[in-house]
Amino acid sequence: MAKYNFDKIINRKNTDSIKWDFGLQRKGRDDLLPLWVADMDFRLPDEVVKDIETRAHHGIFGYTDPGNKYYDAVRGWYGKRHGVHFENDWLIVTPGVVYSIALAIRAFTKPGDSVIIQQPVYYPFMETIKLNGRNVVNNQLVYKDGHYEIDFEDFEKKIIENDVKMFILCSPHNPVGRVWTKEELVRLGDICVAHDVYVVADEIHSDFVYSGYKHTSYITLGEKYTKRFILGTSASKSFNLAGLQVANIIIPDDEARAAYRKENAASGYSQPNALGMVATMSAYNNGEEWIDELLNYLEGNTNYIRSFLKENLPEIHLIEPEGTYLLWLDFSGITTDHKKLEELIVDKAKLWLDPGIIFGRQTALFERINIATPRKIIEQAMDQLYNAVKEFQEENRG
Ligand SMILES: Cc1ncc(COP(=O)(O)O)c(C=O)c1O
Repeated sequence: MAKYNFDKIINRKNTDSIKWDFGLQRKGRDDLLPLWVADMDFRLPDEVVKDIETRAHHGIFGYTDPGNKYYDAVRGWYGKRHGVHFENDWLIVTPGVVYSIALAIRAFTKPGDSVIIQQPVYYPFMETIKLNGRNVVNNQLVYKDGHYEIDFEDFEKKIIENDVKMFILCSPHNPVGRVWTKEELVRLGDICVAHDVYVVADEIHSDFVYSGYKHTSYITLGEKYTKRFILGTSASKSFNLAGLQVANIIIPDDEARAAYRKENAASGYSQPNALGMVATMSAYNNGEEWIDELLNYLEGNTNYIRSFLKENLPEIHLIEPEGTYLLWLDFSGITTDHKKLEELIVDKAKLWLDPGIIFGRQTALFERINIATPRKIIEQAMDQLYNAVKEFQEENRG
């Protein structure tokens, strides 16, 4: 018997949620069903909510630092779930993974240096590199037989040609849903070590890995790979705590960590969010069953979408997810015009998805859909999509 009810629809409107409350401002319509930003519509386990309430009732929220209980909770989770072991002083708490990537860029590269990413990838990588005056180099992932792979030759060639100083790895990979294998990570790592490239591993999606796959944390590859390395993790994705602003950054190398801490201080940041730390600690201590059940539920959502598309909209190809709760859909069988695709999704289907174009120019005919929502909402989204595609096909016939 399932302990948690992920079918329950909870109204999130009027909570200033960027997912639910800002359609008019961000998309020009307030009637869209939002399945875009990586933010889930499920309530946390009661124990976590209670721990936050208990802390809130204390009524005093002064400067706070992680104590032993915090380190134990984070280390316990990473040790048990991912076989990741680290010393307390390797861990730096920051307000977010993207913030931490920006710090790494500033700490370990100079303006004008090149940073390599693998598009299609989480768009803030590119924005953060550019906004910090660094050069974006792209090692495009290869879309082959409906699946994504790494072009290792191109990766090394681009590193050499552009004198690349840093690689931002997305593992598991948002949005293509790949859970990189140990062999793939070692190949990437060997190239980075050979050319003195810093590796920033964003593993924020590591708790979302489906049956048959296993997340390999880059830090477990061994010391050879972790001299010029930072690991970005957070309970914010696993337990939807993004609004509480806590990320855990792990840096094994003393020198790298000192440089990173200096950059963090230069940004004026010091103590973490008190409630965010309570929530993170409680989620890691109490959330194991919740996330295991959630993974089952998400697989159910994917199964529903897979069957629905196969039966009703076979022109839309689902990239089979190995991990993450973000599905990547290929609409090239529907239209070859990405502006028309956007009209179809927004104006006809009244859905708010993330258009493929924001993840890189080559994926303009894709859409990313967030499935971390109750099944009924997924069903509604599929019905809206079906009607919109039929209307679109009718209009574009002949
Ligand atoms: C790959 C990846 N990294 C980082 C983030 C955001 O992390 P944070 O809110 O801690 O900056 C997301 C959120 O969707 C993400 O998908």
